[in-house]
Amino acid sequence: MFFPEYRPRRLRRNETLRSLVRETELSLNHLVYPLFVVEGQHVKEEVSSMPGVFRFSVDLLKEEIKEIKDLGLPAVILFGIPAKKDEIGSEAYAKKGVVQKAISAIKKVAPELLVITDVCLCEYTSHGHCGIIKNGEVDNDLTLEQLARVAVSHARAGADMVAPSDMMDGRVARIREALDEAGFSHIPIMSYAVKYCSSFYGPFREAAESAPQFGDRRSYQMDPANVREALREAALDVEEGADILMVKPAMPYLDVIARLREEFNHPIAAYQVSGEYAMIKAAGKMGWLDEERAMMESLLSIRRAGADIILTYFAKEVAKKIAK
Ligand code: PBG
Repeated sequence: MFFPEYRPRRLRRNETLRSLVRETELSLNHLVYPLFVVEGQHVKEEVSSMPGVFRFSVDLLKEEIKEIKDLGLPAVILFGIPAKKDEIGSEAYAKKGVVQKAISAIKKVAPELLVITDVCLCEYTSHGHCGIIKNGEVDNDLTLEQLARVAVSHARAGADMVAPSDMMDGRVARIREALDEAGFSHIPIMSYAVKYCSSFYGPFREAAESAPQFGDRRSYQMDPANVREALREAALDVEEGADILMVKPAMPYLDVIARLREEFNHPIAAYQVSGEYAMIKAAGKMGWLDEERAMMESLLSIRRAGADIILTYFAKEVAKKIAK
């Protein structure tokens, strides 16, 4: 079919026609809002590289949670910043750790809000790496035991889902085993299956105080050049028992999301990370692009690529826009 018989513009004439043939939808049901929780009281401080994103102490987090609930958002993911860090990240699995306290506070205010926890050590270790250091390197198998402790401690505190983001080999299997043994066989694992070693995490590392004190994360996070490796990582995580597969970052890796969508039948999540948020915010502030439209377009593109779930710092703004 060619012009002039076929005219694609016929279906674009007005909004009714356009929405009738629209292929992808963005609704609040898909969104997860990331939250940073710090020790102390009366803390609500803005992250300078992420306008509109704050670090909350547990007391003020409750107010924020009420707003999130009233906006109709279904889920949050928690990142904790402890008061003290050590070599092995022991605050990550402390009974009264910052995330553990936050979970019970949230459950009191909003029992139905889905609470996901990020399972990693980098915010809790003095050296800022995602695992235990031995002979100057991140030791994979020693780290697995720590991660299992963290996941179980989050589940005990009331988390609804755990999300390991450390990129150690075998962690999904080890965490699944530990959760099952502790009586949490019903708690799903959303694995950061495909996590690239990305410059786009810059603002997050300011927010979470988690920049590595030496070296970088290239020995465990993925090389941005690789996509076949992403399929191998995802296959391993499926084999180990992951319930949801995540790709991170999102926009620079839409091809990876699309490939995973084709190859796997598991739900796929994508993390629109701190740097993606910061770029749109900064350009919006400068008046270089229409921030709201860029926000909606970026999220729609992630859905179109094949993500079921999107973790995004824009979640509240989207909720406000959709409610309008
Ligand atoms: C922890 C973790 C990171 C992010 C999520 N979990 C940082 C990192 O790997 O350095 C990044 C999220 C973002 O940039 O928004 N390992």
